[in-house]
Amino acid sequence: MSRPMSQRISSFSDLFALSWGFAAQRTLATATRTGIIRHLAEGSDTPEGTAASLGLDAFAVGKVVRALHALGVAEVDGASYRLNPNLRPLFRPGDQDVAAFLAHSDMLNDFWGETLEGWVRTGEHPRRVRDAEGQRKFGAAMKAIASHLAPRVAEELDLHSARRYLDVGGGIGYWATVFCRAEPGLYATVLEHPEVAALGQAAVAGTGLEARIEFRGGSYTDADLGEGWDLVLLANIIHQERSEGAARLVQRAACALAPGGRLAVVDFRIDDERRRDLIGVLFAINMRGFGDTYPEPVIRDWMARAGLEPLPRVDLAPAHWLITGRRRL
Ligand SMILES: C[S@@+](CC[C@H](N)C(=O)[O-])C[C@H]1O[C@@H](n2cnc3c(N)ncnc32)[C@H](O)[C@@H]1O
Repeated sequence: MSRPMSQRISSFSDLFALSWGFAAQRTLATATRTGIIRHLAEGSDTPEGTAASLGLDAFAVGKVVRALHALGVAEVDGASYRLNPNLRPLFRPGDQDVAAFLAHSDMLNDFWGETLEGWVRTGEHPRRVRDAEGQRKFGAAMKAIASHLAPRVAEELDLHSARRYLDVGGGIGYWATVFCRAEPGLYATVLEHPEVAALGQAAVAGTGLEARIEFRGGSYTDADLGEGWDLVLLANIIHQERSEGAARLVQRAACALAPGGRLAVVDFRIDDERRRDLIGVLFAINMRGFGDTYPEPVIRDWMARAGLEPLPRVDLAPAHWLITGRRRL
């Protein structure tokens, strides 16, 4: 699996290319939002044909489509362009669709521009407050990422022995849906903020899993996590906490396990010195002063203190890992 690592930048040309990274991200996001990418995922077309089908400006579409080619996202045949074959399923409606994730990255780009410098100067940053529409978009972005992680994690965890599973901060229940589909004997409880739990309940309605996925409104910092779980999942949760909070959550989750039960942490990978795994290092900045990205030895130490024995780590695409511990029998 490719693992983006820090690279040595040694000339003005390298710096020049690096500083144009913003333009690549914005072009991709705009091509997604305006439907250009989806159009080119569905079939081959000229820039003029693409602009006419989508009601866009032909001159601008020509520049964007050629940039998609230069970025390696689209291929060309004569005067027509088409999305690269491996990327096509990612831009068609369905479970693999990454459009919501790219829209989320675009929003993050705005947020970084507005707040990063202030935070570095003062340590202060505005808290992101999401209204109902913001929650819906965030949930859709998390689902888009999870659709590329959850099936693999379900496979790696071999869920056959699990009956009761707690998903802490489980969003709108996408992981629970994938896990329950993978193991017909599994029952999931998703602990979430009440407003997200309500969105989750609506998302699961009509899937046939309503009787097996329960949503519980509350905060994982103080809610009773219960006991006797065969599996507790912390997917993209510990990065939301500073180390004391993350350690406490691991401890409480471990205590809620049945003997032999497993605690599974899915999160961004980062090297032990926190200066090489590029996405993990950048994501740590994304979490500003309220969260962080944690190396494996740190997570293992929290697990060991909570009485869990280590199970092998699994590296996951795009930039994540699965770190699991088992409560002793
Ligand atoms: C990064 S998302 C991850 C969602 C899901 N686990 C996944 O990996 O797709 C973090 C989730 O934690 C939830 N969350 C944040 N703080 C929480 C808290 N104190 N109690 C319960 N849920 C919380 C958020 O609402 C959000 O859905």
